[in-house]
Amino acid sequence: MSTSDPTSVASGQIASGNIDSVMHENRLFPPPADFAANACLKSMEDYQSMWDEAAADPQAFWADLAKKELHWFEPFKETFAWNEESCVAEWFSGGKTNAAYNCLDRNIDQGHGDRTAILWEGEPGDTRTLTYNQLQKEVCRFANVLKGVGVEQGDVVSIYMPMTPELPIAMLACARIGAIHSVIFAGFSAEAIADRNNDAKAKVQLTSDGAWRRGKVLKLKETVDEALAKSPTVETCIVLNRVGEEVEMQEGRDHWWGDLVEKASDDCSATPLDSETPLFILYTSGSTGKPKGILHTTAGYNLFAKKSFQWVFDHKAEDVFWCTADCGWVTGHSYLVYGPLAAGATCVMYEGAPNFPDEARFWEIVEKYQVTTFYTAPTAIRAFIKWGDEHVEKHDLSSLRLLGTVGEGINPEAWMWYHKKIGNQQCPIVDTWWQTETGGIMMSPLPGAIPTKPGSCTKPLPGIIPKIVDESGNEVDENQGGWLTIAEPWPGMLRGIWNDMDRYKEVYWEKVPGKYLAGDNARYDEDGYYWIMGRIDDVLNVSGHRLSTIEIESALVSHPKVAEAAAVGRPHDLKGEAVAVFVSVTDAEPNEALRDELKQHVRKEIGALAQPDDIRFTASLPKTRSGKIMRRLLKDIAAGKEIVGDTTTLEDYEALAKLRDED
Ligand code: PRX
Repeated sequence: MSTSDPTSVASGQIASGNIDSVMHENRLFPPPADFAANACLKSMEDYQSMWDEAAADPQAFWADLAKKELHWFEPFKETFAWNEESCVAEWFSGGKTNAAYNCLDRNIDQGHGDRTAILWEGEPGDTRTLTYNQLQKEVCRFANVLKGVGVEQGDVVSIYMPMTPELPIAMLACARIGAIHSVIFAGFSAEAIADRNNDAKAKVQLTSDGAWRRGKVLKLKETVDEALAKSPTVETCIVLNRVGEEVEMQEGRDHWWGDLVEKASDDCSATPLDSETPLFILYTSGSTGKPKGILHTTAGYNLFAKKSFQWVFDHKAEDVFWCTADCGWVTGHSYLVYGPLAAGATCVMYEGAPNFPDEARFWEIVEKYQVTTFYTAPTAIRAFIKWGDEHVEKHDLSSLRLLGTVGEGINPEAWMWYHKKIGNQQCPIVDTWWQTETGGIMMSPLPGAIPTKPGSCTKPLPGIIPKIVDESGNEVDENQGGWLTIAEPWPGMLRGIWNDMDRYKEVYWEKVPGKYLAGDNARYDEDGYYWIMGRIDDVLNVSGHRLSTIEIESALVSHPKVAEAAAVGRPHDLKGEAVAVFVSVTDAEPNEALRDELKQHVRKEIGALAQPDDIRFTASLPKTRSGKIMRRLLKDIAAGKEIVGDTTTLEDYEALAKLRDED
């Protein structure tokens, strides 16, 4: 059956549980017959039997995969152990492996050294192709560069780079010698870099002179210079010459990438590392002002990234996989580097903006590289829709066989457009739910096996056991919303928050004892399909990126003219959510100039992605009698909604009335 024939299934009544769900989506798209016939999992029965096998004996399931899928310098002795006290899992203890070896040498050992690993295209149109052999040599060279500047196992290397091949090369070079990378998205501010560098005690900074963005140069080195002035632990900065921008080089601290690489040997054997050796830290927003350094370790993460990649993208050797995420986010870590490369895949990597030189750029790339598997974010899909079908229609997209989304829920309209316009009604769509913390995809259709419903991430991967619970930790019924938890450990799970294990326990393990608390609301329907219903905490999802309201508020109150600030999300056509802030000022004039100044201030403190769309000035903020800002009210005001909720605890009715008058 073709995917263009939606089969209706009864959607059932959605009961009003803890959280009401307003979504009724009852279209069902079975995998196309020819896709299923060639898929590694071909039917719901295939999926169910693998899921059941994993659930029945998770230790045996993961142990078997780990033996088959990773290279072991020394075999592991125990599959899994759980520490009740710290709530930290230990996977594959006693074993020694290396993620860079798994991603490079293992493929070469298996005779795939001449296979293309990375098909790279720069924004200006320059290109590079790296085979697994070539990538391995580059990684070795850079690993030697790192060693040459004193990087040792356990040292943290901070990476603030454009999407050039040197970025994954640097990540893998760290992995090769047991150094820990902390990649910081190249849109973050100097303040944000310095905060992360200081928290991680980074020893070395990697950056470039600049990055291309819509034909203009972003001056990365300038931002890094400002950050390093406040990052006392960083001893060395290595600078890639990407755009030919003149930059200041600080004597003794700064070195050109090219100069160091030129002198380095391309021979560097991978260090055999204990399974639980830290692989990377990746900072993400939580519900306090301080970003959390999510820690992932070597063997479990690498195995989970690889297997989830193979299952979800039904990977075949001849596929050309394109994940459009930046390596600054977890999606870039798991599905541009560690998952696909461990699976010996050929990956497209693109440096620049989707609308440069015009809005057809992505489709030009799909056609040029004959991309088979395309993985992007709903916010991008909404932008494509807005830009118009004519850009899509200019290119032959018939190489595509599978589409994916990640980062936020996809609204059914965008799903249908993606299905029709990009997938020509032939490609399954995998809506993948996961998080920085989970290391890899947790719930997603397996495309040959699981029929899709627009807007649902469908079913858990083998080995993943979701449970939806109420605030007392009791499981809720079908179609009743509740907190999404994961009941059993999985190899890709985070191992902690860097420098803050108390916060780790409190955020993820204490509210629902014995289960991982994801921080999302969700429900499952009568077919056992999961639907994500948004965050339970003060975390916004702006264009698929996590932002903490408190981080934005802290940035605002650090401005001398701001007395108090509250940030909330409001619905936005393209971004999903936009940042709206309410500000009371000190003795300053609340005018347009101040509005711009505050936007720039947030940009400077956090980065462009956090810049508020709306700033409203107010004499005071609505608070409860205990002094808590009533965000729910502000959210409704920001969205232009009627205030219908309970306002009996509101301390100052006048504040609310004044805010509404502003509408
Ligand atoms: O709220 C969920 C949303 O993004 C959060 C995780 O964000 P981050 O750690 O930045 O990782 C994004 C890339 C994996 C989740 O808690 N989210 C992610 N994917 C989906 C989603 N919400 C709905 N559907 C999804 N497919």
